[in-house]
Formats: sequence, structure tokens, C-alpha cells
Amino acid sequence: MSTKRRVGVLISGRGSNLQALIDAAKAPDYPAKLVLVVSNVPDVQGLTRAEVAGIPTCTVNHRDFPSREAFEAALDEALGGAGAELLCNAGFMRLLTESFVSRWLNRHLNIHPSLLPAFKGLDTHARVLNAGATITGCTVHFVRAAMDDGPIVAQAAVPIHADDTEESLAARVLAAEHRLYPHALRLVASGQVTMDGERVVGMLEGADGTYEVALFSPPLPGNF
Ligand code: GAR
Repeated sequence: MSTKRRVGVLISGRGSNLQALIDAAKAPDYPAKLVLVVSNVPDVQGLTRAEVAGIPTCTVNHRDFPSREAFEAALDEALGGAGAELLCNAGFMRLLTESFVSRWLNRHLNIHPSLLPAFKGLDTHARVLNAGATITGCTVHFVRAAMDDGPIVAQAAVPIHADDTEESLAARVLAAEHRLYPHALRLVASGQVTMDGERVVGMLEGADGTYEVALFSPPLPGNF
């Protein structure tokens, strides 16, 4: 019997982070299995990526529902039907209500292309460049009701070059995202992290039982 955690993924578009999770989950020892990909936008590239990988998909278009609650009830129904235990936002661009967030509390991850809590929201890379930052990065965190907010599971730092444009910086950060998200989902799905209040801590099994360890950042992709 499989001990892999069953994971649903929410997307709104291109799905390159979804692809990174699909590729990671092919490893026999990966502790998570993607059981459903849900898009709130019809006909996006991420849905095709899931279909190619043989993962069930559905579209739950927020425009088809009279309220956020009705939209989220449809999301829950789809995820429940697939037996999802964990949820990953991968470029999912809708805010979720407190009620939905509390149902998935500490079982629901998001990735954002900045070193949170800095630069939440849209147009991240343009704002990072305008601020004159010299280092940026990406963050995987547990979802809370506020946008791009919640306990941090993993981060990767990415240097900013003097001649960077929004596009060149986005591409460099995206390469780091593709390394970081599979790493963070592995930590969560394997039970290597737990919560201490609103802080994420690493856990390891030792001869004397389970003990707390510092979370570490994974190696960054090369060729900066
Ligand atoms: C990614 O850069 C992700 O971090 C960002 O959207 C992009 C989706 O790309 N998410 C957010 O900004 C969330 N606030 P993808 O569809 O190719 O994975």
C-alpha cells in the first residue's frame, strides 16, 4: 500500500511550478503523489501539463459562481472527491476566504517569487528592481487568509544583477522556484516539519525519539 501523501494542486496558468512538482513526484521515494490539478481559469497550459502526466484535472471557474463561498465549496468538493490530504497553490491567483484557509490549515502551501515577507502581491520583480534590492528569491509558506502570508517552510535567495530586467530576474527566480517547491513539499509530506505556534520547525527521528532541527535552505541552481 502506498504511504505517499495525496496532494491537490491549484493553478491559474502556465504551470511551470506544477511541472516541477510532477517531475519530482516521479521519484519512487518522493513522499507525495499528485492526485488532482484544479484550475480556476479554463484551457491553461498547466492543465495540459497535468493531462500529459496522467493526472486528473478539472476547471472550477470562479466566474461561474455567485460568491467566493460557492466557488470554494466547488473546490472542496473536487479535492475531497480526489482524496487530497495536502494542497499546493502553484501560480494560483485567487484569494481564499478564512473559512477555506482554516479547513486546510497547515496542509496548504503557496509559492511566491520573493523573500517574504517582503514584496507580497503582483508585479513582484518590477517592485524589487525599483527598490534597488540586490538580493531577492522565493518562498514556500503555509497559506493564511492574507495574501502571500503565512509561516515560512523554505526560502531560496537569488542575486540581482546590475543589468537585470524584470524578465531576466523573473527567469532566474523561477529556476529557483522549481528547485524550492519540490523540496518544501517533500519536507511537509514526509512529516519533517511541524508547527511551533505560527513558526515552522524541522523534525528528525532519532534513536531517542523525535527532535527539533533547524530548517536549511537547499542548494541554489547554478549559472547565475
Ligand atoms: C510563479 O512565479 C509563482 O511564484 C507566482 O506565479 C508564478 C506562476 O508561474 N505566484 C505568485 O505570485 C503568488 N502570489 P507558474 O504558473 O509557471 O508556476
